[in-house]
Amino acid sequence: MQAFEHPSSEAAWEAMWAPYDEATYRAVLNQIAADDVVLDIGAGDLRLARRAARVCRRVYAIEIQKELLELAAQDEDTAPVENLIVLHGDARHLPFPRDIRTGILLMRHCTHFRLYVDKLKAAGADRLITNARWRLGVEVMALQAERIPYRQLEMGWYACWCGATGFKPGPVEQLTLAVIEAVQEIIDCPKCQTVIV
Ligand SMILES: C[S@@+](CC[C@H](N)C(=O)[O-])C[C@H]1O[C@@H](n2cnc3c(N)ncnc32)[C@H](O)[C@@H]1O
Repeated sequence: MQAFEHPSSEAAWEAMWAPYDEATYRAVLNQIAADDVVLDIGAGDLRLARRAARVCRRVYAIEIQKELLELAAQDEDTAPVENLIVLHGDARHLPFPRDIRTGILLMRHCTHFRLYVDKLKAAGADRLITNARWRLGVEVMALQAERIPYRQLEMGWYACWCGATGFKPGPVEQLTLAVIEAVQEIIDCPKCQTVIV
């Protein structure tokens, strides 16, 4: 693993590079369409970005650790991919390209989820493929979808645009299978006030 300096311990994990497993990459690649323009945020050694570029129109890949991009450039087994545009820098500060449709954020310890969502939306993207909210499997988040405020949610699972997830408690007589199985997209959850943007 390699890291750049960062203040808190969660943020220290965020700075680590560790590749994911094949099942995770497949789950992402299965969601990418041939006409997609993709932005891979925190692209590591480009192993996923290169595969994504082979199945869609264009991929931009942002990675903060120069050593990882140098490592990727040394990989002799990998032929150059013409529609892959690699950007070395900090995704928190780099402007996002204006033609992207889909973001990829494989970063289970992401502490800037809301910032990336805001930047993707502002750039016109409509989907984010990520493991950063539930920190388990990969989900596709509809970036332009309607969201209700947390206070309007009566009970049940929620996923907030700030990256927080949880279950809002309620009266036991309202607990149905539908409540247990649904996830509401929300805004203004209790954790929103503490999120770094
Ligand atoms: C868990 S690794 C995943 C790498 C890659 N997506 C993969 O699946 O192989 C997260 C990556 O995000 C990068 N990263 C973290 N914060 C970043 C930032 N602010 N800007 C750009 N890259 C960042 C780290 O350097 C690391 O390579």
